[in-house]
Amino acid sequence: MLECVMILQDTHDVKTFCFQTTDNSWFRYLPGQFITIELEIDGKPVLRTYTLSSSPSRPLSISITVKANKDGYASRWLHENLKEGDKIKAHGPAGLFTLHNHMADKYLFISGGAGITPTLSMTRWLFDYGIHTDVHFIHCARTPSDIIARRELESMSARVSDIKVAFACEEPDPYGAWTGYTGRLNQLMLELISPDYQDREIFCCGPAPFMQAVRDILNAAGFNMDQYHEESFDAPIIEEEDRPDHDDVIIDDDAKSSVTFTKSKKDTRVQESDTILAAAKKTGLHIPSACQFGVCGTCKVKKISGEVHMVHNGGITQEQIDDGYVLACCSNPLGDVVIDF
Ligand code: FES
Repeated sequence: MLECVMILQDTHDVKTFCFQTTDNSWFRYLPGQFITIELEIDGKPVLRTYTLSSSPSRPLSISITVKANKDGYASRWLHENLKEGDKIKAHGPAGLFTLHNHMADKYLFISGGAGITPTLSMTRWLFDYGIHTDVHFIHCARTPSDIIARRELESMSARVSDIKVAFACEEPDPYGAWTGYTGRLNQLMLELISPDYQDREIFCCGPAPFMQAVRDILNAAGFNMDQYHEESFDAPIIEEEDRPDHDDVIIDDDAKSSVTFTKSKKDTRVQESDTILAAAKKTGLHIPSACQFGVCGTCKVKKISGEVHMVHNGGITQEQIDDGYVLACCSNPLGDVVIDF
């Protein structure tokens, strides 16, 4: 259980919500990881996944930085309703999008909009630890007023020569002169800001079209994509040529499977094209879920027996799979499956 202890207004539509545990214990996580928070909106549980923008080097509290999207049901609710002193449930932390999984001498962090949170966390962590790692930090925003944590990033960059920060805005705004890069990130900008980007480990986070544009720039430049890592909680855009080849398993729309949930003593017959999550819903069970495309790990359940076909997006580790866990939102039952839920 987390208690909201502070709310900071970052830009006109972005707020940072800071939390402590209700028993004042410290937080342990890796910079770049996320949590899934459980809200109650209109009497219904709503789970959403947010990357922690705070750094684990400051373990007394954690923070999430949330943009109030006009279509964002939970983000708008947070902006309009969450108050200091409120308590919410949270799951995690989890996630593999962290520099700890890809240690390198030189990094390039690229973010768009509210996708700044994991790279902000990683940069804060590197700064706090005084680790002399060479970081180029590029953040893209719509206007200068939309840049999140601008002064903090500029201050870190001014004090530590290893951290170089650049902002690119699609357009200036009327509140002051803009002398930074203008327009969408492109190959030329990338080369000017980070001339040696080909030698760097790249972490990219932002809306799916933004990351697609970054991948296009890098692919066109012949960048070694093994050094490229990205994360987004938007449903991924998958080009036909990027679509993984799953010819080894053919999901049969007409085939029936049975799914049994042992703890709840429920079972149901579904089609192979249904997910375990859909099967649970059909029996009236609520497996907690957030992203619903295999990235956040919230819907992880243990499989006792049977086979599933799982296509995830990094929300589960190989060790967890070896231990029998599956992500309910992206696992199709092949035949009879028994789940420990
Ligand atoms: S709900 Fe996020 S991985 Fe299943």
